[in-house]
Amino acid sequence: MKYFNCEIFAIIAAVTFAFAYDEKESPYRSSFMHPYPPFSYYDDGTDPGEALFITPLLSNDSLTKADVRNIALVKGKQFLNVKSFAGYLTVNEAYNSNLFFWYFPAQESPETAPVVLWLQGGPGASSLIGLFLENGPLKLHSDGKLKKRKYSWSKTHNLIFIDSPVGSGFSFTDKAAGFARNEQDVGRDLHEAMLQLYELFDWQNSSGFWITGESYAGKYVPALAYRIHKAQQSYDFQGKHIPLKGMAIGNGLCDPLHQLKYGDYLYQLGLIDDNGLAAFHVAEAAGEECIRKKDMVGAFEIFDSLILGDLPKGSIFKNLTGFDWFYNYLQAHDDNCFINLGNFLQSGATRQAIHVGNHTFHDMDKENKVKNSLMEDYMDSVAPWLEELLKHYPICMYSGQLDVIIAYPMTRNFLKMLKFPDADYYKIAPRKIWRVDGELAGYVKQAGNLIDVLVRNAGHMVPYDQPKWIYELIYHLTHQKHAL
Ligand SMILES: *[C@@H]1O[C@H](CO)[C@@H](O)[C@H](O)[C@H]1NC(C)=O
Ligand SMILES: *[C@@H]1O[C@H](CO)[C@@H](O)[C@H](O)[C@H]1NC(C)=O
Ligand SMILES: *[C@@H]1O[C@H](CO)[C@@H](O)[C@H](O)[C@H]1NC(C)=O
Ligand SMILES: *[C@@H]1O[C@H](CO)[C@@H](O)[C@H](O)[C@H]1NC(C)=O
Repeated sequence: MKYFNCEIFAIIAAVTFAFAYDEKESPYRSSFMHPYPPFSYYDDGTDPGEALFITPLLSNDSLTKADVRNIALVKGKQFLNVKSFAGYLTVNEAYNSNLFFWYFPAQESPETAPVVLWLQGGPGASSLIGLFLENGPLKLHSDGKLKKRKYSWSKTHNLIFIDSPVGSGFSFTDKAAGFARNEQDVGRDLHEAMLQLYELFDWQNSSGFWITGESYAGKYVPALAYRIHKAQQSYDFQGKHIPLKGMAIGNGLCDPLHQLKYGDYLYQLGLIDDNGLAAFHVAEAAGEECIRKKDMVGAFEIFDSLILGDLPKGSIFKNLTGFDWFYNYLQAHDDNCFINLGNFLQSGATRQAIHVGNHTFHDMDKENKVKNSLMEDYMDSVAPWLEELLKHYPICMYSGQLDVIIAYPMTRNFLKMLKFPDADYYKIAPRKIWRVDGELAGYVKQAGNLIDVLVRNAGHMVPYDQPKWIYELIYHLTHQKHAL
């Protein structure tokens, strides 16, 4: 009977979602954890060239790995001599599922530098947003030309961007069954992609592998780490060993059950009053109840009514505060500063250079298939995986102080619930002031493998707001295995 009810609910919800898409005025509101407007279709008429599939080349005996790397090399003056490689990795032959990667070897000591993967959230957002707006070696200037980024993580890391799960960015699948339905699917496909990248590139002397990401990637990062950890622990594991060293997650959604406490936060910020607080408390309690009953679609609906406002009813947050932007509480509206990135990525010259051919660029599309197939996953938790991973690897949870959607106190709330060897100490661990070159960057608390960082004066996209501080943080994490 219960199952039956949920089915009906799912159908109603699906109908409402379809309706909501047509009703939408503001483009970015079709998204979940996506701070950027979806890019619209663009075709400048230039020949996009052919898509490059790396996987068959890896098993071709007449090609050396150096040959394959040479084929994958990204060429073009527009990239300002920044060396990179790009192409498709087939992660599921039956569904023809292919993940797109773009890799930038470290500018300093690429032989020994750590290998770092960056994953965008969404779900359904392209990791190329992170590349060009947050931490990659290149950024897009308003005149449409590329410029070098001063605090690129690729200075001292072999930095990889993968559009994940399939259906995000340039990644694609030919079958509906190819889309990820849960985090096991996400982790499995990413693991397959990383195995192929470890085969292709000379990372054997690298100091190890780190997984990083933001927002909804708060699920993907532990999913890949847990997959690697479990696979390599298992008796009959035959594959290549990936030297996983740790993780960093920025303003990540990991455990919605304990991250829903918007009311208290907004009240303390002065953005709502006691009446608003009461309304939030009622909805939060209903959301928690749905999650406990495993009614994930119902939980999503409540989450939507709390803050997202994608459904026709909008959100309590918007109704009470007048904000339609929840990535920085100092800003009530989107500033549309990223719009030209979509045209750049979809131009024929870029497509040809990065070997995607004419494959459609999906980024939080109106029909966001990535999001839809992860509907049951939204409000689910990766906390059990984090608990296991914390026994073995450092995990840095950094939070931009000004974010609303995944606010620091909500992340703290879930971290305090985690059961891991240093859990008791975490609750009383002293907080340290963190400075970079004398600048007050934020605060750090560490308990065993858990490193909890508040980054001052930053919103949801920390590397966009505070590139120097977060670069220092990641550098220290990956090179010294502790925060600061
Ligand atoms: C292997 O690569 C060579 C050289 O590019 C090509 O001629 C050949 O067709 C490839 N073999 C297979 C089985 O794809
Ligand atoms: C890795 O280190 C070994 C030993 O120093 C060296 O022989 C090898 O060339 C190095 N490989 C790469 C890819 O740097
Ligand atoms: C927001 O306000 C509108 C207009 O009063 C109302 O119809 C809607 O139900 C409200 N949304 C929520 C989630 O409370
Ligand atoms: C891409 O190119 C192929 C071969 O030229 C063509 O069959 C296909 O329709 C094109 N797809 C898109 C999305 O333009």
